[in-house]
Amino acid sequence: MSDDLIISGSDKTERYQSLQQQLGFLLADAPNPLTHVSQLLAALHHSFNFLWTGIYQVQGDSLVLSAFQGPVACVSIAHGRGVCGTAWQEARTLVVPDVDAFPGHIACSSASRSEIVLPVFRGNEVIAVLDIDSAELATFDEIDQRFLEEIVADYLAPHLPL
Ligand code: SME
Repeated sequence: MSDDLIISGSDKTERYQSLQQQLGFLLADAPNPLTHVSQLLAALHHSFNFLWTGIYQVQGDSLVLSAFQGPVACVSIAHGRGVCGTAWQEARTLVVPDVDAFPGHIACSSASRSEIVLPVFRGNEVIAVLDIDSAELATFDEIDQRFLEEIVADYLAPHLPL
């Protein structure tokens, strides 16, 4: 049987629903956490043609680059710095329609125009962030936030830290 995802739908909501319906099957056979997380990130990245899709894990007082899809990126981000470090500090999702308008945004790629960063919780503690960049302005909104928060809780948090 093919492992290809078929993402259908005329709008963003339908595309997220289509992806969600296939994630359980796609990830069921993952033999270890890295396989699981890599498959999840690849599925997200290619279903929506994002510029960069990856995770930074909390290590001491920094976020350290972990599994990702896309161009090479910054390896370490301090607590409270950039969009990622701010999402960690504030323990909440940040939707950034224009990265140039976010004070302190860290430009790992000059092609990035908008971004969403979601904290990954273990209990009440942030243990990682999921960071997604887009080459277009204003790619992310409350629909992305809602679906991605569900996906993080259901499919990412249980498999971290790597
Ligand atoms: N833009 C992020 C840095 C990580 S890269 O986008 C992969 C930030 O400001 O924290």
